[in-house]
Amino acid sequence: EEVKELVRMNISALQFKVLKQWGFARASLLTLPHGDVRTPVYMPVGTKGAMKGLLPKNMKDDIDCEIMLANTYHLFLKPGEEILDREGGLHKFAAWDKNYLTDSGGFQIVSLSDLNEVTEEGVTFESHIDKMKFLLTPERSMEVQNSIGADIMMALDDVVPPTITDADRLEEAMHRSVRWLDRCILAHKKPEVQNLFAIVQGGCDDDLRKICCDEMIKRNTPGYAIGGLAGGEDKEDFWRTVHTCTQLLPDDKPRYVMGIGYPVDILICSLLGADMYDCVYATRVARFGTVFTRNGEIKLRGSSNKNQFIPIDSKCQCYTCKNYTRSYLWQSFTRDSSCLQLLSLHNVYFLLDIIREFRQAILDENVEEYMTNFVTDYYITEK
Ligand code: GUN
Ligand code: ZN
Repeated sequence: EEVKELVRMNISALQFKVLKQWGFARASLLTLPHGDVRTPVYMPVGTKGAMKGLLPKNMKDDIDCEIMLANTYHLFLKPGEEILDREGGLHKFAAWDKNYLTDSGGFQIVSLSDLNEVTEEGVTFESHIDKMKFLLTPERSMEVQNSIGADIMMALDDVVPPTITDADRLEEAMHRSVRWLDRCILAHKKPEVQNLFAIVQGGCDDDLRKICCDEMIKRNTPGYAIGGLAGGEDKEDFWRTVHTCTQLLPDDKPRYVMGIGYPVDILICSLLGADMYDCVYATRVARFGTVFTRNGEIKLRGSSNKNQFIPIDSKCQCYTCKNYTRSYLWQSFTRDSSCLQLLSLHNVYFLLDIIREFRQAILDENVEEYMTNFVTDYYITEK
């Protein structure tokens, strides 16, 4: 009843305007408390509010990033709510004046903490830092995300891998995610300045996804995420599940597919009507010398780069590609940590850039040609 009352009040801190649609794909403008976000959008992951090796200044001036992702789990452990409250939130603490989206913590607990247990109350876990025991409940997650001050906060969900074979556990996790969403709605203290997104669960089971979408749509949150994917399921299952959800979710709200970061996956999900993505892939592999090009990924550590006096990607306008050759980056990789910064900068820029091109293609009604060229270049043309 109390939840229904809150749902009726229909409070949100965003505006979402679909500017143009091509098939199911949309080019939209999402206006959040810390500025406009052009969607589809890829959100780089700055786990504790900042990117590894990239300054907020780089993110803004060199990459033109409009929204970054941070994690409740890490910020809860360190620095914790008290410090965040004292500093007036993460934007000020980490010197990022554009938008933040924070994940709720459950997913990171399951993937990072060795010992964790899910009960109706919440998720108990041992910190990966000092082995202290904690309980993260929907209420605690909201409290921490309110202290962080994220522009978009994610509901605490019960996450199981999409490849799970235990049908009962999958169904239980879906229903529990709905119940936890209600607790999040009740616990959320600042709906007029922070947006709470629901996370649809249900694995690769269309019936469960339908039930979950129906229930969550009734809660009328300002946006919706599709969770529980990109965990080793077949592409067929992945695409079908995204399609099932995007068909059901309201057209006038943003749709976020969690944990997606391969260029082609981002483009296909966008063709299926999704708007937002995040993944650590781009920055994680950059630290091992793997970089995106429009002709597929390359490994910069290979000695074949020694005599390549060309940029990582000849069409890329990033700082790295405008100033350095593959040869330079190859020789500096093991010697100079600034190389890691150059590679991360390129990879994040690249993802934002291709998604901007795709968005422009929607606006120009040029999507088919863009996709054909992209896929041909990425998978067929020589690197
Ligand atoms: N990140 C990637 N997948 C998920 C998910 O299903 N839930 C949450 N909370 N975060 C995610
Ligand atoms: Zn580049």
